[in-house]
Amino acid sequence: MSSYDRSPLVVTIDGPAASGKSSTSTLVAARLGVRHVDSGMIYRSVTASRLRGGDAPELWTEQSVLEAARAVSLSPGETSFVPRLHGVDCEAEIRGEAVTALVSLVAKMPHVRAWVNALVRQTAAAHEIVVDGRDMGTAVFPDARLKIWLVALPAERARRRVLQRTGRAPNAEELAAETAELEARDLKDREQTQPAADAVWIDTTGISQDEQVGRIVGLAEERR
Ligand code: DC
Repeated sequence: MSSYDRSPLVVTIDGPAASGKSSTSTLVAARLGVRHVDSGMIYRSVTASRLRGGDAPELWTEQSVLEAARAVSLSPGETSFVPRLHGVDCEAEIRGEAVTALVSLVAKMPHVRAWVNALVRQTAAAHEIVVDGRDMGTAVFPDARLKIWLVALPAERARRRVLQRTGRAPNAEELAAETAELEARDLKDREQTQPAADAVWIDTTGISQDEQVGRIVGLAEERR
């Protein structure tokens, strides 16, 4: 057995916005009995921390964002590592529109990316994790035991997002608006959203969540 085989299990689940990474990762982590880390939530928490500064985003320097990042930590919950701001749960704040509008700007800053990556690696050094994001299988864990690349057609991703937000299926107008918004976000995040060469691709457009989770758990168990 190589030292690679004895390292703590890391499963990376990457893909574009609303491809189902986060919900899939939570369920996979629960089935494997490990915790989930949502790296997008860390970028969101850093953005929320910097937003509390109150000044215009045009004035944000990378250094000032890095300073704001120091207020962010990951705290172990039952099924996931939850980001906290000054030690306090910030879930509602990081899902808000202000953060969503600015998080791509923050996620483009190379030193901020290095800071987030270090935090995730530090967590994985001591715990088995399922981690989702855009570049977990490429930049952060090139040697991860299992790498998944989740994709789904834009219209399907848009349908799921509206369903999640409103609890009902979207009408044609909502679907078109949501699809356009998702495609604009894909464009903004495209540089850091790349599949690893050795990732297993799963197209979730036509399969149930149970089925995708089952496939990933099966692969993870084979490699554990
Ligand atoms: O997955 P999400 O929508 O919560 O991600 C929030 C933002 O963070 C989005 O702009 C993409 C970016 N992100 C990233 O650049 N790298 C990651 N590993 C995770 C998220």
